[in-house]
Amino acid sequence: MVMHTRIVTTVYIGLCLLLILLCGCGKNFSTVKEEKEIPVSNQSLIVVGVSQVGSESVWRTANSNSIQKVFTKEKGYFLDFQNARQKQENQIKAIRGFISQQVDYIVFSPIMEDGWDTVLQEAKEANIPVILMDRQVNVKDESLYTTWVGSNFFEEGQKAGRWLEEYLEKSGRTQEEIKILVLVGTEGATSVIGRTKGFHEIASRHDNWQIVSEVNGEYTTSKGKEVTKQVLRTRKDIDVIVSQNDDMTFGALEAIEEAGLQAGENGDILVISFDAVKAALKLVKDGKISVDIECNPEQGEYIESVISTLERGEQVEKAYYVPEKIFTKENVEEFIDERTY
Ligand code: AHR
Repeated sequence: MVMHTRIVTTVYIGLCLLLILLCGCGKNFSTVKEEKEIPVSNQSLIVVGVSQVGSESVWRTANSNSIQKVFTKEKGYFLDFQNARQKQENQIKAIRGFISQQVDYIVFSPIMEDGWDTVLQEAKEANIPVILMDRQVNVKDESLYTTWVGSNFFEEGQKAGRWLEEYLEKSGRTQEEIKILVLVGTEGATSVIGRTKGFHEIASRHDNWQIVSEVNGEYTTSKGKEVTKQVLRTRKDIDVIVSQNDDMTFGALEAIEEAGLQAGENGDILVISFDAVKAALKLVKDGKISVDIECNPEQGEYIESVISTLERGEQVEKAYYVPEKIFTKENVEEFIDERTY
Protein backbone atom coordinates (compact mmCIF):
# COMPACT_ATOMS: atom_id res chain seq x y z
CA MET A 1 0.00 0.00 0.00
CA VAL A 2 2.83 2.36 0.99
CA MET A 3 4.63 1.30 -2.16
CA HIS A 4 1.50 1.99 -4.25
CA THR A 5 1.08 5.49 -2.71
CA ARG A 6 4.74 6.23 -3.42
CA ILE A 7 4.38 5.23 -7.08
CA VAL A 8 1.22 7.35 -7.45
CA THR A 9 2.96 10.34 -5.79
CA THR A 10 6.05 9.95 -8.00
CA VAL A 11 3.91 9.76 -11.14
CA TYR A 12 1.93 12.82 -9.98
CA ILE A 13 5.07 14.88 -9.26
CA GLY A 14 6.52 13.76 -12.61
CA LEU A 15 3.41 14.92 -14.43
CA CYS A 16 3.46 18.26 -12.60
CA LEU A 17 7.12 18.80 -13.52
CA LEU A 18 6.38 17.95 -17.13
CA LEU A 19 3.49 20.42 -17.14
CA ILE A 20 5.65 23.19 -15.62
CA LEU A 21 8.38 22.43 -18.15
CA LEU A 22 5.99 22.54 -21.07
CA CYS A 23 4.40 25.78 -19.89
CA GLY A 24 7.79 27.39 -19.34
CA CYS A 25 9.04 26.36 -22.76
CA GLY A 26 5.78 27.16 -24.46
CA LYS A 27 7.07 30.40 -25.93
CA ASN A 28 10.01 28.71 -27.61
CA PHE A 29 7.86 26.02 -29.21
CA SER A 30 5.28 28.47 -30.48
CA THR A 31 5.22 28.67 -34.28
CA VAL A 32 3.03 31.77 -34.36
CA LYS A 33 5.22 34.84 -34.61
CA GLU A 34 4.02 37.57 -32.32
CA GLU A 35 3.10 40.82 -33.99
CA LYS A 36 5.37 43.75 -33.30
CA GLU A 37 3.42 46.18 -31.13
CA ILE A 38 3.85 49.84 -31.89
CA PRO A 39 5.09 51.42 -28.63
CA VAL A 40 2.92 54.29 -27.32
CA SER A 41 5.89 56.69 -27.55
CA ASN A 42 6.04 56.00 -31.31
CA GLN A 43 2.40 56.50 -32.05
CA SER A 44 2.87 59.95 -33.53
CA LEU A 45 5.26 58.51 -36.11
CA ILE A 46 4.27 57.35 -39.60
CA VAL A 47 4.23 53.56 -39.41
CA VAL A 48 5.65 51.73 -42.43
CA GLY A 49 5.49 47.94 -42.71
CA VAL A 50 8.06 46.54 -45.16
CA SER A 51 8.11 42.97 -46.43
CA GLN A 52 11.41 42.21 -48.14
CA VAL A 53 11.92 39.14 -50.37
CA GLY A 54 14.92 37.79 -48.46
CA SER A 55 18.68 38.24 -48.47
CA GLU A 56 19.64 36.13 -51.48
CA SER A 57 22.04 38.62 -53.05
CA VAL A 58 24.40 41.52 -52.37
CA TRP A 59 21.90 43.64 -54.29
CA ARG A 60 19.07 42.63 -51.96
CA THR A 61 21.09 43.58 -48.87
CA ALA A 62 21.81 46.98 -50.41
CA ASN A 63 18.10 47.37 -51.15
CA SER A 64 17.20 46.56 -47.52
CA ASN A 65 19.86 48.99 -46.25
CA SER A 66 18.48 51.79 -48.39
CA ILE A 67 15.06 51.29 -46.77
CA GLN A 68 16.46 51.07 -43.24
CA LYS A 69 18.55 54.19 -43.78
CA VAL A 70 15.55 56.28 -44.74
CA PHE A 71 12.71 55.17 -42.48
CA THR A 72 14.15 56.32 -39.17
CA LYS A 73 12.60 57.88 -36.05
CA GLU A 74 14.62 61.03 -36.71
CA LYS A 75 12.77 61.39 -39.99
CA GLY A 76 9.42 60.69 -38.34
CA TYR A 77 8.93 57.00 -39.15
CA PHE A 78 8.41 53.77 -37.28
CA LEU A 79 9.67 50.92 -39.46
CA ASP A 80 8.50 47.31 -39.12
CA PHE A 81 10.88 45.44 -41.43
CA GLN A 82 10.14 41.77 -42.16
CA ASN A 83 12.38 39.39 -44.12
CA ALA A 84 10.28 36.78 -45.98
CA ARG A 85 13.18 34.39 -46.57
CA GLN A 86 12.20 33.72 -50.18
CA LYS A 87 8.69 32.52 -49.36
CA GLN A 88 5.52 34.09 -50.72
CA GLU A 89 3.52 32.66 -47.80
CA ASN A 90 5.77 34.61 -45.40
CA GLN A 91 5.12 37.80 -47.34
CA ILE A 92 1.36 37.23 -47.23
CA LYS A 93 1.58 36.58 -43.48
CA ALA A 94 3.64 39.75 -42.96
CA ILE A 95 1.16 41.85 -44.96
CA ARG A 96 -1.76 40.46 -42.93
CA GLY A 97 0.21 41.34 -39.78
CA PHE A 98 0.66 44.92 -41.05
CA ILE A 99 -3.07 45.13 -41.75
CA SER A 100 -4.01 44.01 -38.26
CA GLN A 101 -1.52 46.48 -36.76
CA GLN A 102 -3.16 49.17 -38.91
CA VAL A 103 0.14 50.50 -40.22
CA ASP A 104 0.01 53.70 -42.29
CA TYR A 105 1.77 52.26 -45.36
CA ILE A 106 2.70 48.82 -46.66
CA VAL A 107 5.84 48.57 -48.78
CA PHE A 108 6.77 45.24 -50.30
CA SER A 109 8.93 43.62 -52.93
CA PRO A 110 6.84 40.76 -54.31
CA ILE A 111 8.91 37.62 -54.71
CA MET A 112 6.87 36.67 -57.79
CA GLU A 113 4.19 38.45 -59.79
CA ASP A 114 1.22 36.10 -59.29
CA GLY A 115 -0.91 35.35 -56.25
CA TRP A 116 -1.51 38.72 -54.59
CA ASP A 117 -5.15 39.61 -55.37
CA THR A 118 -6.67 38.42 -52.09
CA VAL A 119 -4.21 39.91 -49.62
CA LEU A 120 -4.00 43.22 -51.50
CA GLN A 121 -7.80 43.40 -51.53
CA GLU A 122 -7.64 43.02 -47.73
CA ALA A 123 -5.16 45.93 -47.54
CA LYS A 124 -7.40 48.03 -49.77
CA GLU A 125 -10.43 47.32 -47.57
CA ALA A 126 -8.36 48.40 -44.55
CA ASN A 127 -7.54 51.65 -46.41
CA ILE A 128 -3.79 51.08 -46.28
CA PRO A 129 -1.86 52.32 -49.32
CA VAL A 130 0.46 49.66 -50.79
CA ILE A 131 3.74 50.68 -52.43
CA LEU A 132 5.49 48.06 -54.54
CA MET A 133 9.26 48.08 -54.43
CA ASP A 134 11.62 46.56 -57.05
CA ARG A 135 9.25 43.90 -58.47
CA GLN A 136 5.65 44.11 -59.63
CA VAL A 137 2.40 42.19 -59.17
CA ASN A 138 0.08 40.66 -61.70
CA VAL A 139 -3.37 41.61 -60.34
CA LYS A 140 -6.77 41.96 -62.00
CA ASP A 141 -7.43 45.31 -60.33
CA GLU A 142 -4.58 47.83 -60.55
CA SER A 143 -6.13 49.94 -57.80
CA LEU A 144 -4.97 47.28 -55.32
CA TYR A 145 -1.66 49.11 -55.12
CA THR A 146 -0.88 52.82 -55.10
CA THR A 147 2.43 52.92 -56.93
CA TRP A 148 5.58 51.01 -57.84
CA VAL A 149 9.24 52.05 -57.59
CA GLY A 150 11.85 49.97 -59.40
CA SER A 151 13.95 49.19 -62.45
CA ASN A 152 13.07 48.89 -66.10
CA PHE A 153 13.93 45.20 -66.33
CA PHE A 154 12.87 44.86 -69.96
CA GLU A 155 15.25 47.64 -70.88
CA GLU A 156 18.01 45.99 -68.82
CA GLY A 157 17.60 42.80 -70.90
CA GLN A 158 17.69 44.83 -74.11
CA LYS A 159 20.85 46.62 -72.96
CA ALA A 160 22.55 43.23 -72.50
CA GLY A 161 21.46 42.15 -75.99
CA ARG A 162 22.53 45.41 -77.60
CA TRP A 163 25.96 45.25 -76.00
CA LEU A 164 26.44 41.73 -77.42
CA GLU A 165 25.18 42.86 -80.82
CA GLU A 166 27.74 45.68 -80.95
CA TYR A 167 30.55 43.54 -79.60
CA LEU A 168 30.01 40.80 -82.20
CA GLU A 169 29.80 43.37 -84.96
CA LYS A 170 33.04 45.04 -83.85
CA SER A 171 34.83 41.70 -83.71
CA GLY A 172 33.53 40.55 -87.11
CA ARG A 173 31.57 37.61 -85.71
CA THR A 174 28.14 38.37 -87.17
CA GLN A 175 28.11 35.21 -89.31
CA GLU A 176 29.50 32.90 -86.65
CA GLU A 177 27.18 30.60 -84.66
CA ILE A 178 27.05 32.09 -81.12
CA LYS A 179 25.97 29.69 -78.39
CA ILE A 180 24.41 31.38 -75.38
CA LEU A 181 23.67 30.04 -71.91
CA VAL A 182 21.24 32.11 -69.81
CA LEU A 183 21.21 31.85 -66.00
CA VAL A 184 17.83 33.06 -64.81
CA GLY A 185 16.87 34.08 -61.26
CA THR A 186 13.80 33.39 -59.09
CA GLU A 187 10.96 31.93 -61.14
CA GLY A 188 8.06 34.32 -61.77
CA ALA A 189 9.94 37.43 -60.54
CA THR A 190 9.49 40.65 -62.54
CA SER A 191 13.24 41.05 -62.93
CA VAL A 192 13.49 37.59 -64.53
CA ILE A 193 10.47 38.11 -66.78
CA GLY A 194 11.67 41.54 -67.95
CA ARG A 195 15.34 40.71 -68.46
CA THR A 196 14.49 37.50 -70.31
CA LYS A 197 11.99 39.23 -72.63
CA GLY A 198 14.31 42.15 -73.32
CA PHE A 199 17.26 39.91 -74.18
CA HIS A 200 15.07 37.59 -76.31
CA GLU A 201 13.81 40.56 -78.28
CA ILE A 202 17.34 41.43 -79.40
CA ALA A 203 18.38 37.78 -79.82
CA SER A 204 15.43 37.13 -82.16
CA ARG A 205 16.97 39.57 -84.68
CA HIS A 206 20.03 37.37 -85.10
CA ASP A 207 19.79 34.00 -86.79
CA ASN A 208 23.31 33.13 -85.68
CA TRP A 209 22.51 33.52 -81.94
CA GLN A 210 21.45 30.28 -80.37
CA ILE A 211 20.17 30.25 -76.77
CA VAL A 212 21.18 26.67 -76.00
CA SER A 213 19.90 26.58 -72.45
CA GLU A 214 18.10 28.69 -69.83
CA VAL A 215 18.74 27.36 -66.35
CA ASN A 216 17.52 28.56 -62.97
CA GLY A 217 20.31 29.75 -60.67
CA GLU A 218 17.84 31.23 -58.14
CA TYR A 219 19.82 34.49 -57.93
CA THR A 220 22.39 32.86 -55.63
CA THR A 221 26.12 32.15 -56.00
CA SER A 222 25.89 28.48 -54.98
CA LYS A 223 23.04 27.65 -57.36
CA GLY A 224 24.63 29.74 -60.12
CA LYS A 225 27.80 27.69 -59.77
CA GLU A 226 25.94 24.37 -59.60
CA VAL A 227 23.89 24.88 -62.75
CA THR A 228 26.79 26.33 -64.76
CA LYS A 229 28.92 23.36 -63.75
CA GLN A 230 26.20 20.98 -64.94
CA VAL A 231 25.99 22.65 -68.34
CA LEU A 232 29.77 22.90 -68.82
CA ARG A 233 30.15 19.21 -67.96
CA THR A 234 28.23 18.26 -71.07
CA ARG A 235 29.27 21.05 -73.43
CA LYS A 236 32.42 23.08 -73.86
CA ASP A 237 31.14 25.16 -76.77
CA ILE A 238 29.35 27.95 -74.87
CA ASP A 239 30.41 31.36 -76.22
CA VAL A 240 28.38 33.63 -73.95
CA ILE A 241 26.85 33.38 -70.47
CA VAL A 242 24.11 35.89 -69.69
CA SER A 243 23.73 35.74 -65.93
CA GLN A 244 20.75 37.65 -64.56
CA ASN A 245 22.54 38.79 -61.38
CA ASP A 246 26.04 39.26 -60.02
CA ASP A 247 25.72 36.61 -57.33
CA MET A 248 25.03 33.89 -59.92
CA THR A 249 27.89 35.34 -61.99
CA PHE A 250 30.34 34.85 -59.11
CA GLY A 251 29.33 31.18 -59.03
CA ALA A 252 29.44 30.85 -62.82
CA LEU A 253 32.97 32.30 -62.94
CA GLU A 254 34.14 29.66 -60.44
CA ALA A 255 32.49 26.93 -62.54
CA ILE A 256 34.16 28.26 -65.72
CA GLU A 257 37.55 28.17 -64.04
CA GLU A 258 36.99 24.69 -62.61
CA ALA A 259 36.06 23.48 -66.10
CA GLY A 260 39.49 24.64 -67.29
CA LEU A 261 38.03 27.50 -69.33
CA GLN A 262 38.63 31.24 -69.26
CA ALA A 263 36.14 34.05 -68.98
CA GLY A 264 36.67 37.29 -70.89
CA GLU A 265 37.06 38.76 -74.33
CA ASN A 266 40.40 37.02 -74.85
CA GLY A 267 39.19 33.80 -73.25
CA ASP A 268 36.56 31.16 -74.08
CA ILE A 269 33.35 32.60 -72.65
CA LEU A 270 32.01 36.15 -72.60
CA VAL A 271 30.15 36.91 -69.38
CA ILE A 272 27.31 39.41 -69.24
CA SER A 273 25.98 40.23 -65.78
CA PHE A 274 23.31 42.34 -64.06
CA ASP A 275 23.26 44.43 -60.83
CA ALA A 276 26.74 46.02 -60.86
CA VAL A 277 27.70 45.58 -57.21
CA LYS A 278 31.22 46.65 -56.20
CA ALA A 279 32.80 43.16 -56.30
CA ALA A 280 31.42 42.64 -59.80
CA LEU A 281 32.65 46.03 -61.00
CA LYS A 282 36.15 44.95 -59.97
CA LEU A 283 35.71 41.88 -62.17
CA VAL A 284 34.64 44.14 -65.04
CA LYS A 285 37.89 46.04 -64.53
CA ASP A 286 39.82 42.72 -64.57
CA GLY A 287 38.06 41.68 -67.79
CA LYS A 288 36.32 38.61 -66.33
CA ILE A 289 32.90 40.21 -66.74
CA SER A 290 32.56 41.94 -70.10
CA VAL A 291 29.57 44.11 -69.30
CA ASP A 292 27.50 44.68 -66.15
CA ILE A 293 24.02 46.11 -66.55
CA GLU A 294 23.20 48.15 -63.48
CA CYS A 295 20.12 47.43 -61.39
CA ASN A 296 19.78 50.24 -58.87
CA PRO A 297 18.90 48.99 -55.35
CA GLU A 298 18.83 52.44 -53.74
CA GLN A 299 15.08 52.83 -53.79
CA GLY A 300 14.51 53.95 -50.17
CA GLU A 301 14.63 57.69 -50.91
CA TYR A 302 12.22 57.38 -53.83
CA ILE A 303 9.77 55.47 -51.66
CA GLU A 304 10.11 58.00 -48.86
CA SER A 305 9.40 60.80 -51.29
CA VAL A 306 6.26 58.95 -52.49
CA ILE A 307 5.08 58.66 -48.89
CA SER A 308 5.77 62.36 -48.21
CA THR A 309 3.72 63.26 -51.28
CA LEU A 310 0.84 61.06 -50.12
CA GLU A 311 1.09 62.57 -46.62
CA ARG A 312 0.57 66.02 -48.15
CA GLY A 313 -2.60 64.66 -49.74
CA GLU A 314 -1.17 64.90 -53.26
CA GLN A 315 -1.40 62.39 -56.12
CA VAL A 316 1.49 60.13 -57.12
CA GLU A 317 2.33 58.46 -60.44
CA LYS A 318 1.57 54.77 -60.93
CA ALA A 319 5.24 53.91 -61.63
CA TYR A 320 8.66 55.40 -60.88
CA TYR A 321 11.79 54.12 -62.62
CA VAL A 322 15.15 54.47 -60.88
CA PRO A 323 18.13 55.65 -63.00
CA GLU A 324 20.63 52.99 -64.17
CA LYS A 325 23.87 52.77 -66.18
CA ILE A 326 25.92 50.09 -67.89
CA PHE A 327 29.53 49.33 -67.04
CA THR A 328 32.31 48.03 -69.27
CA LYS A 329 36.09 48.19 -68.89
CA GLU A 330 35.96 51.54 -70.73
CA ASN A 331 34.06 53.40 -67.98
CA VAL A 332 34.14 51.21 -64.85
CA GLU A 333 37.16 52.66 -63.06
CA GLU A 334 35.62 55.99 -62.20
CA PHE A 335 32.67 54.26 -60.47
CA ILE A 336 34.35 51.53 -58.39
CA ASP A 337 35.45 53.70 -55.46
CA GLU A 338 32.14 55.42 -54.99
CA ARG A 339 30.20 52.12 -54.92
CA THR A 340 29.07 51.46 -51.36
CA TYR A 341 27.61 47.95 -51.82
O1 AHR B 1 14.64 41.95 -58.53
C1 AHR B 1 15.95 42.42 -58.56
C2 AHR B 1 16.89 41.27 -58.48
O2 AHR B 1 16.67 40.56 -57.27
C3 AHR B 1 18.36 41.58 -58.47
O3 AHR B 1 18.94 41.60 -59.72
C4 AHR B 1 18.88 40.40 -57.72
O4 AHR B 1 20.22 40.47 -57.39
C5 AHR B 1 17.91 40.34 -56.64
O5 AHR B 1 17.99 39.37 -55.74
